[in-house]
Amino acid sequence: MTKLFEPLVVRGLEIRNRIFMAPMCQYSCENKDGVPGSWHLVHYGARATGGTGLIIVEATGVSPEARITPWCTGIWNDEQVNGWKAVNDFAHSQGAKTAIQLAHAGRKASTYRGWSGENSISTEDGGWQTISATDEAFTGYAAPRALALDEIPSLVAEWVSAAKRSIQAGFDAIEIHAAHGYLIHQFLSPITNTRTDEYGGSLENRARLLLEIVIGIRVAIGDDVPLLIRFSATDYREDGWNEAETAQVAKWAADEGADLFDISTGGLITGVQIPFAEPGYQVKFAEFVAEKVEEPVSAVGNIFDGKQAEEILQAGQVEVISIGRGMIRDPYWALRAAHDLGVSVDYWQNQDQRGKFPNR
Ligand SMILES: Cc1cc2nc3c(=O)[nH]c(=O)nc-3n(C[C@H](O)[C@H](O)[C@H](O)COP(=O)(O)O)c2cc1C
Repeated sequence: MTKLFEPLVVRGLEIRNRIFMAPMCQYSCENKDGVPGSWHLVHYGARATGGTGLIIVEATGVSPEARITPWCTGIWNDEQVNGWKAVNDFAHSQGAKTAIQLAHAGRKASTYRGWSGENSISTEDGGWQTISATDEAFTGYAAPRALALDEIPSLVAEWVSAAKRSIQAGFDAIEIHAAHGYLIHQFLSPITNTRTDEYGGSLENRARLLLEIVIGIRVAIGDDVPLLIRFSATDYREDGWNEAETAQVAKWAADEGADLFDISTGGLITGVQIPFAEPGYQVKFAEFVAEKVEEPVSAVGNIFDGKQAEEILQAGQVEVISIGRGMIRDPYWALRAAHDLGVSVDYWQNQDQRGKFPNR
């Protein structure tokens, strides 16, 4: 048996293998209402049929203003809960488990879709005033408004109520998006957080917003539901957020009930060199964090096939492999990996049996 196809148990949730689908924005709520529809059902459903262990659905706004674009999914009302329920019911019928990535885009909100080539949407065109730790803009985007101290409790409450709705929608786990330069990362990094109140300055202060969200969500979801956090482990700039701070904040978050850390990098600022083309370019960051924390850690980024994934797990630090673009290319990435590694799994669906990858 390989490590990749060993089940993983997190807080009592059994996941059939170590392959997670990385969260990927679909920008496909054509009515701009945050309600997942047939695109989402087919997109996530195919990856569930394809043998994925845990499907982490795209960055989903905890409020309308939290969305990156008007086309992003949301989880602030009952219609969205019902839309997600259909996705979850089908994924579960295929043996996959599901998590939702709860997100607030902060100063990177109110934009056009990734593929449009344009940045901020003006308020006249259906955009909105963004918020952040300060009023400094992301390069090329409209300037945010600095969150006032007395607005923070209601922001935390939005995350908590989104987490409750996620459970109603049938998700097995919750992931907090604290990466890629979105709102929580804007608070974590000393580059974007120059506040002088108790949410800025020291590492404790910069981590306060995230930890308040973790505490609130853990109380709301009870003891049984796994809570994941996605971090960017570095800003790729010497004066920025780094892997040592990531590991320290992960430990504090674990003390408050976080169970697994999903380690990515970058996204806070432009003008830095990221080795995007290298295979497994973020694995060393995941390994760094994994060495420091007791909880399982996931690696992501340019992991192409089952053999490479298995080698990363065999190296002994990382417990999970998340696959993004590989699953865009091949919804059956997990079943193909099983075949490549010579592992026999019992979750080829009856309808697909005659199309199994052939032995040559
Ligand atoms: C189309 C697309 C959308 C993405 N959206 C998200 C997102 O919603 N949340 C997130 O944390 N990362 C997002 N990412 C990053 C992926 O989760 C992943 O970390 C990245 O693509 C590197 O992994 P890969 O090389 O396996 O694709 C996105 C990536 C792509 C390609």
